[in-house]
Amino acid sequence: MVKVVDLTLRDAHQSLIATRLRTEDMIPILDKIDKAGFYAIEMWGGATFDVMIRYLKEDPWERLKIIRERVTKPKLMMLLRGQNLVGYRHYPDDVVEKFVEYAYKNGIDIFRVFDALNDVRNMRTSIKKAKSMGAIVQGTITYTVSPVHTIDHYLKVAEELVVLEVDHLTIKDMAGILDPYTCYQLVKSLKEEFKIPVDVHSHFTGGLAVANYIKAVEAGADFIDTAISPLAFGTSHPSIQTMYYALPKEHKPDVDLNVIREVSEYLNKILFTKYKDLLDIRVFMPDPNVLEHQIPGGMISNFLTQLKQVGAEDKLKEVLEEVKRVREDLGWPPLVTPASQIVGAQAVLNVLYGRYQVVAKETYNYVKGLYGKPPAPIKEEVIKMVLKNERPIESRPADLIEPMYEKCRKEVIEKGYYSKEEDVLTYCLFPDVAQEFFKTRIPQIMVKQREKDLWDEILGY
Ligand code: CO
Repeated sequence: MVKVVDLTLRDAHQSLIATRLRTEDMIPILDKIDKAGFYAIEMWGGATFDVMIRYLKEDPWERLKIIRERVTKPKLMMLLRGQNLVGYRHYPDDVVEKFVEYAYKNGIDIFRVFDALNDVRNMRTSIKKAKSMGAIVQGTITYTVSPVHTIDHYLKVAEELVVLEVDHLTIKDMAGILDPYTCYQLVKSLKEEFKIPVDVHSHFTGGLAVANYIKAVEAGADFIDTAISPLAFGTSHPSIQTMYYALPKEHKPDVDLNVIREVSEYLNKILFTKYKDLLDIRVFMPDPNVLEHQIPGGMISNFLTQLKQVGAEDKLKEVLEEVKRVREDLGWPPLVTPASQIVGAQAVLNVLYGRYQVVAKETYNYVKGLYGKPPAPIKEEVIKMVLKNERPIESRPADLIEPMYEKCRKEVIEKGYYSKEEDVLTYCLFPDVAQEFFKTRIPQIMVKQREKDLWDEILGY
């Protein structure tokens, strides 16, 4: 019997309606999700944190509390981008440790930790902290297609994760380009080599994810990642209902389809009313082209916007070709955040101004080694063109970052935004957006002002 990780409250709405599902619209289905028979629900992390404070003006820590109070049977899982946490840059170790500590204290049971480049040095601090708190850790392998991403490559990454005593291994196919037979081989190799539970996370983007899960289960996968329709398929994940019927009796997950149907009906209702303006048919349809060029849909629409701005829309085909070359130049990074943005922006610059004649700051940082070690070495001539006389760093990128937690803490208190310790983390991660968000909590802030005065006394101002 395969166990199910339900992604409805995180990845599914992140993939299909730009992460905009509000907590108030989750609350009515939480008791149903609680008794649906899921092993875990992924409901926090990824882009949810940023989108909540930036656009929804909701406190992510409050959402976590609300869900924790109402969901007790499945474990609560979050997606953590290693040293990037839920942001887009590397944070110092003290912030990473505090973040994991408070996420765990507020109710996260399982930390799914990944790094875009599969550089395990970027995952070490969060994994160790989560383990030391008593959490379950899913060490995650980012899947992509390239000449260097062989089964052996993934086994090496997995080995480094196993050394860190992760509880599960997860294969993360964020682009939806994994195919069923590679999936089978990968799961089988991981199970044979490491004898720990394996989870497969495959997006439906290329249309293969249902087949992937069937082969994964055949190969001995312990968990599959699904969503409740209508927040399923397209660039999201296979629906749990579909997977239930796709799997043979001995592997069928022990889920309650009646309860799931009720959730499904509810989602249908709100999606076509309150959220109807967010519906974009393109993300609800699989796009098999991705299997061929491996360029995520979002990247292509970005290219069109960028090229339009400089009146060079006719250059799209050249840019797509250049993406392949840049990716090879840079050591075959998987096209996920932040590598997709780096490769994409540089490809556009190369087509418009000549190869590496204009170098984006992010490309410089990447080649310098500030994002970590690429899957394969960066081409020597590209290092020379980008860094001139400098050399890439050899150390773990976060070793170069000064601690910042205490400084942020002091600032949050001084500015009168402190209502709880978690506010410090929100501020550390997104200082500008966090302040705008804190300002929307006006009634609370007035109370906080009194607390600030108290703090001033304590701090001796
Ligand atoms: Co995903």
